[in-house]
Amino acid sequence: MIRSLRHFALGVPALKAGVDFYEAFGLETIDRPDHVAMRCHGRDQDQVVLVETGRDRKFHHIAFGTDAAGLAAIKGRLEAAGVALVDPPYPGAAEGLWFHDPDHVLVNVQAAEPEVRPHEAAPDVNRPGHYPRAGIRGCPTPDIATRPRRLGHLILFTPDVPRQARFYCALLGMRLSDTLQDDYGAFLRTGGDSDHHVLGLLHSNAPGFHHASFEMGSIDEAALGALKLQAKGYKHAWGPGRHAIGSNYFHYFRDPWNGMAEYFHDIDFIPDAFDWTPQEWTKKEGMFLWSADGPPPPDFGRNYEAC
Ligand SMILES: [Fe+2]
Repeated sequence: MIRSLRHFALGVPALKAGVDFYEAFGLETIDRPDHVAMRCHGRDQDQVVLVETGRDRKFHHIAFGTDAAGLAAIKGRLEAAGVALVDPPYPGAAEGLWFHDPDHVLVNVQAAEPEVRPHEAAPDVNRPGHYPRAGIRGCPTPDIATRPRRLGHLILFTPDVPRQARFYCALLGMRLSDTLQDDYGAFLRTGGDSDHHVLGLLHSNAPGFHHASFEMGSIDEAALGALKLQAKGYKHAWGPGRHAIGSNYFHYFRDPWNGMAEYFHDIDFIPDAFDWTPQEWTKKEGMFLWSADGPPPPDFGRNYEAC
């Protein structure tokens, strides 16, 4: 049923700090009466929504896309499960269904066209026995654009990982891709073709926002984007490195309110018909294969909304 991640929203103390951060990260701003939307260059879709609340940062909502049949099916499943529909949170909010998940996280499911992914020519990469980039310099120039292509996934804290995973799989048609031992984490993908995960769940003593992740065109773009963020004073959080779960290269930065934004490249992709077998990982093995700055720092798994 769910077939795309549309956007996520944060309630923030003041908009400017968020706009400055996400613009430095590589997104573009659209001002609206009740919120600010951030988009990827050339992508006709809100990816981040910032709602000014004047209070500490708090996760506001998550929005998914489906087709008309999916919308009807999800509505029926919500009714059967006794999940009440609620009003949109502000006048300009997306249409579709609005409701709360078991953690009382606000969720929107809207009718939307299938996700359009940027389609770019595959790079020629020289490696042992294969030298397709013959006679051509491979190093990009320092001024290459470092623009995220699309929002790929979102990771949320929850006090009950299995309960949340059951809700999103049973009622919204998401699928389990992998888990972390001891119910510490679960990684869910959409129906249809999907990245390895579009929604991840991490255990904490309260709900909260961990990070949002955006696809980059190369490791070079991610690295150069990271240098730009560091030059503007934003705090490097972890990376660069390579996750085992999802396989993506990563580099995390702290937003102004101790949430995180991640550049990712080369995530696992699971076609609809592929018989993917979920694997249960230990925290140590699943989190990363390598990272330039070693294991995740102590505050990587800290839920700042629970403080
Ligand atoms: Fe991530």
